[in-house]
Amino acid sequence: MLSPIRCAVLVSGSGSNLQALLGAKAAGKLPSAALCLVISDREGAYALERARTSGVKALCLPRKQLGQETFEEELLAQLLEGNIQLVVLAGFLSILSPRIIAAFPNRILNIHPSLIPAFCGAGMYGIRVHQAALDRGVKISGATVHLVNEVPDGGPILLQQAVAVLPGDTAEELQQRIMEQAEWTLLPRAVEELAAQLLQEGTTT
Ligand code: GRF
Repeated sequence: MLSPIRCAVLVSGSGSNLQALLGAKAAGKLPSAALCLVISDREGAYALERARTSGVKALCLPRKQLGQETFEEELLAQLLEGNIQLVVLAGFLSILSPRIIAAFPNRILNIHPSLIPAFCGAGMYGIRVHQAALDRGVKISGATVHLVNEVPDGGPILLQQAVAVLPGDTAEELQQRIMEQAEWTLLPRAVEELAAQLLQEGTTT
């Protein structure tokens, strides 16, 4: 059996999507992927605690304190030093530099909490996405896993899951339902499928 694909998970917040990945790994649902490294772009992200509790190496690269250029250099250095082959953005709120995207072509996944191309693009993240969906009056929303390229939320779509918007939903209630019914199953599935494909291709570079 080839060694599993070395994955890094980039986070900014509570890490519920990271937790879904950790739980999937513990349940044997990520045989093709090894969760080797978690990196947060800000201090105090609970996602770092989740990683440490699960015994996964966790680093904080505080973008605001480091400055954009140093942050990007440090991030790329950590990914290369860790021999990372697949990068997963899980609630990650920083934009990746073209240098990092070029270093991992079709090897960066992102989970976005809407059915792209709806409610996505620059500035559309977190609770804002769900408020925009409610303001528009959509009856269905959901989540999307896509490959990351230089266009915010513009890379090829890999998986999507629709979730009902219920009458009277608040943005928080819709966000929770989409996380529970879509994000936390889609992301592990997408990581396993892409990692298995990379193993099959034998392209471990
Ligand atoms: C989630 O809504 C996710 O879709 C978005 O960031 C939010 C928080 O994610 N990308 P997490 O709990 O930090 O994984």
